[in-house]
Amino acid sequence: MRSSCPARRWNGFRRVSQSRFYSSVREQQPPPWRPATALDEWAERQARPISLRQLTFFGRTLTEPRLISSANYVRTELPTRLAHRLRDIQQLPYVVVANPHLSLVYELYYKAFERFRVIPEIQSLDDNDRFCDILRDMLREHLVVIPNLAMGVLECRNLVSPNEMDKFMNTLLRARISRRVIAEQHLALTDTFNSPWHFQDSHDRTDLNADFVGEVFLKCKAKQVVERCGRVAQDLMRRTSSTAQLPEIIVQGHLDATFPYILSHLEYIVGELLRNSVQAVVEKYHDSPHPPPPIEVLICETPQHVIMRISDQGGGIPQEILPYLWSFSKGPRTQTRLENLGRVPAMAATMQELKVPERKVERDSWHEGSLDSLTSRPPNLRLGMGLPMSRVYAEYWAGSLELHSLEGYGVDAFLQICKLGNKNEQVTTRAAMDAV
Ligand SMILES: Nc1ncnc2c1ncn2[C@@H]1O[C@H](COP(=O)(O)OP(=O)(O)OP(=O)(O)O)[C@@H](O)[C@H]1O
Ligand SMILES: [Mg+2]
Repeated sequence: MRSSCPARRWNGFRRVSQSRFYSSVREQQPPPWRPATALDEWAERQARPISLRQLTFFGRTLTEPRLISSANYVRTELPTRLAHRLRDIQQLPYVVVANPHLSLVYELYYKAFERFRVIPEIQSLDDNDRFCDILRDMLREHLVVIPNLAMGVLECRNLVSPNEMDKFMNTLLRARISRRVIAEQHLALTDTFNSPWHFQDSHDRTDLNADFVGEVFLKCKAKQVVERCGRVAQDLMRRTSSTAQLPEIIVQGHLDATFPYILSHLEYIVGELLRNSVQAVVEKYHDSPHPPPPIEVLICETPQHVIMRISDQGGGIPQEILPYLWSFSKGPRTQTRLENLGRVPAMAATMQELKVPERKVERDSWHEGSLDSLTSRPPNLRLGMGLPMSRVYAEYWAGSLELHSLEGYGVDAFLQICKLGNKNEQVTTRAAMDAV
């Protein structure tokens, strides 16, 4: 354990309330003597994965019974998924679970598990309103999870093999996305249902929210996303280095490619890739009398996928970093990352938390997730999270993210998105649910 402060470590250890911690150790003993606990029961249930297509279909004609059944899906799904993750944490060696950051996450998960598992069936709109309040509380409270997980994993990197730690981190982050997706989707559906434009008996969806079903944006246009994220990346760079000459961002290819997607996920990935590219180009051409070369984005649409290639001439990825690009726990900059993470107490992992705050964009082209405005982080603080986190997001909806570095020249990033609106979407089957 490498926490810099032993006292904090001890407090953190105590935070995993001792009786609960010991009971969790007992739970690791094999049956038959061990009595079944609530956690055992819930951990034995299978998660019921949902696809983006189902999310959309479900919310399209939103009626009271549908909203209630969505609430009950979330009500049983959250404790099931939390129980699986609690089991994962329990299976780590004792010294790792005792890490203050990881024990904090464990405690938060346990609290949420205990809270959700006892909620009785939701039967009315009033029940649902109360349920939504609990959901919002949980989402808000869990904003500390990402930085704590990241710090815990870095601090424990010498206690378990780094590959194990990365696997653990990937599983937990993916599960976190999955829980937030179902929770935020239900909150968004409830908002839509309660909005003055929603008529329960109407099948006419030409209201103001018609482009969104909950959090799913039906008309995600790749070109617009790239342009919007590009502007944010440029604004951020302008803010941190006002004298910098910024590279232009040129978009080519299938400029009409449109598909349904959770906009905040796509914006996060594209935003992080462009932020890296802009940063690299600006750093390389800082002292050059010539304008920096542009960043070129190529969009390619196939029947199943949309592929985006982001090419920059920022000099490529430094050799000493390249092998650790996708790792949460390895690499040469551990100490700086830990210090930087310590300055980011809460993180939602959305592009909005990096956004220049005064910017106002019209509702049609910009959809703020319900909790996006609650966190913010300095954009120039390098956490080493951008790429690995982007890959978790990309793979979550069965896509992929690859980088090719051309030493001394630049980087090509390839993002492949599954067009989940079509018939052959793979999320439900793929998620044989080590994913959740
Ligand atoms: N397009 C690029 N050109 C050159 N180097 C890059 C590029 N993209 C990433 N890198 C290198 O890879 C490192 C890791 O990138 P990553 O986005 O994961 O984290 P970060 O940028 O350091 O921090 P964060 O994104 O969390 O603020 C970067 O610090 C940078 O050195
Ligand atoms: Mg980055």
